[in-house]
Amino acid sequence: MTTASFADDPGRPTVAVLGTGIMGSGMARNLLGAGLPVRAWNRTRARAEPLAADGATVTDTAEEAVRGADVIITMLNDGPAVTETLTAAAGGVRPGQIWMQSSTVGIEATTGLAHRAAGLGLVYLDAPVSGTR
Ligand SMILES: NC(=O)c1ccc[n+]([C@@H]2O[C@H](COP(=O)([O-])OP(=O)(O)OC[C@H]3O[C@@H](n4cnc5c(N)ncnc54)[C@H](OP(=O)(O)O)[C@@H]3O)[C@@H](O)[C@H]2O)c1
Repeated sequence: MTTASFADDPGRPTVAVLGTGIMGSGMARNLLGAGLPVRAWNRTRARAEPLAADGATVTDTAEEAVRGADVIITMLNDGPAVTETLTAAAGGVRPGQIWMQSSTVGIEATTGLAHRAAGLGLVYLDAPVSGTR
């Protein structure tokens, strides 16, 4: 699959949302509402599928979701879930992609994830959220 490049249309980055639980699905819908292409993956695929009706491309794997995306968002339970998902997605990432890590993982895990990002050449944004859906 080809994805429009950020370089071609910098105002319209393609966003991969990994984790479409309560928070991730809301984020994905807001991104779609803003006109951004969204590639959505969730461990339990059935939880991501409703986003297809809003225009998201739902993928079978995290690797498929991140391949060709400009921005990756992780919105998962905790540090181990993020580490596991990043490992699974690693084959699809490319240097220079932005990784916005929004799961609540704590300071220690954040440091480890930032190191992983650096190793993959990703631009790491630590972006935890407060509030609720
Ligand atoms: N909800 C809130 O009001 C709120 C507010 C502030 C911050 N947060 C933080 O936001 C994050 C997400 O919260 P949420 O409310 O959206 O939680 P949620 O609805 O329970 O969703 C959790 C997500 O993590 C996935 N997940 C869990 N373990 C995984 C693993 N080992 N590998 C891959 N995916 C895994 C789940 O996939 P499955 O669907 O397959 O289980 C699901 O997509 C958490 O860190 C939470 O602390 C939440």
